[in-house]
Amino acid sequence: MNILAIETSCDETAVSVLHAEGTFPHATYEVRGNELFSQIDLHQEYGGVFPAMAKREHVKTILPLATKALVDADVLAIREEIGDADTVRSTLHEICNHEAALADALADFYASYETLDIDAIAVTAGPGLEPTLWVGINFAIALSHLYNIPVVPVNHMKGHIFASVFTGTTLSSVTFPALSLLISGGHTELVVMRDWTTYERIGQTRDDAVGEAFDKVARLLGLPYPGGPEISKCAATARAADLPAFASLPRPMLDADNLDFSFSGLKTAVRYAVQEKELTADERNAIARDFEDAVCEVLLTKTTRAVDEHAIQSLILGGGVSANEYLREQFTKHFATEYPDLTTYLPDATLTGDNSVMIALAGHAHVDAALEPSAARAIRANGNQSITEKFSY
Ligand code: KG4
Ligand code: ZN
Repeated sequence: MNILAIETSCDETAVSVLHAEGTFPHATYEVRGNELFSQIDLHQEYGGVFPAMAKREHVKTILPLATKALVDADVLAIREEIGDADTVRSTLHEICNHEAALADALADFYASYETLDIDAIAVTAGPGLEPTLWVGINFAIALSHLYNIPVVPVNHMKGHIFASVFTGTTLSSVTFPALSLLISGGHTELVVMRDWTTYERIGQTRDDAVGEAFDKVARLLGLPYPGGPEISKCAATARAADLPAFASLPRPMLDADNLDFSFSGLKTAVRYAVQEKELTADERNAIARDFEDAVCEVLLTKTTRAVDEHAIQSLILGGGVSANEYLREQFTKHFATEYPDLTTYLPDATLTGDNSVMIALAGHAHVDAALEPSAARAIRANGNQSITEKFSY
């Protein structure tokens, strides 16, 4: 089957076509079209993502990206005779929530293409920024309506899990119970997976997400958005030069008798350490490293405790922060040495950030729950959707 996947939960517009041969979880996959437009350049100017601005960009780019992905996957059949766009225009305006330009462009698309060889559309329904999620959802509903294709609403964080276990052609044969450490700009959570679809959250952040802490500390150090990769570069320079510690930073909640996290105090400690100081390059690199050390130590310690307490067989790291080189190294080394029977899964470098291949994979896992076009009209964006919700796919 062919799955069209759409991801617009934050500042990446991503559309892909995944071909699946066989049934989940033993299918063989081929990514046949894959388009991603990052709005980072736009948001960098403002030091963060503004939902209204992000939404406008998604509206502008989604159809061109989808068309390219569908053409690359060779799943579009051109109409012999140009169709009548007006027959669908008013419904599309309604579905697209009166984004007139997008609705008109979709009507023209429909007039040009007779069929889509797509069996299901997977779309991120949450968590994320609601205004941007709606763009992807409405777009999915529009295509579903035009071409009579069922829709699977996908949970973004589940997508990150699937990204980590994707080999490029298959899903790794994970042994359960597995533990997922999900670390991104909006989330930091420990989730036990009894099987591919049964999830229990056993720990989460009580304030800032770890990616958010990276971004905020980067801003304190005068580094651009997104801060994670910038901090990581500075920290690597400090380690290579073996710079002395700049500040002694706390390890929040390390000894607390639970699996929760807190990162806002760590960020505040960095603020106090650097305030009203003109930092030299060495000092900035050193504090970036001190911060990264503190984050890694907390994540590693709590994850290890969760592995012990829940008899975990496999560990899955997912989300944007799992791109962090030092963290990857620390986790890999620690678990390979101390837990040789446990397998650790890390996403390929091309799939650490937000993308739509991961949404297609999660969509395939839940394709039995796909909603027929009329029912798909009821899909809602849910900015706070939890991975453990019963109907969160
Ligand atoms: O998963 P993601 O792309 O978007 C969300 O779903 O939030 O994660 C984005 C977050 C940002 O906070 C970014 O600074 C962080 O991931 N990030 C990193 C690195 N690359 C991205 N954090 C630390 N080290 C990195 N190399
Ligand atoms: Zn993400």
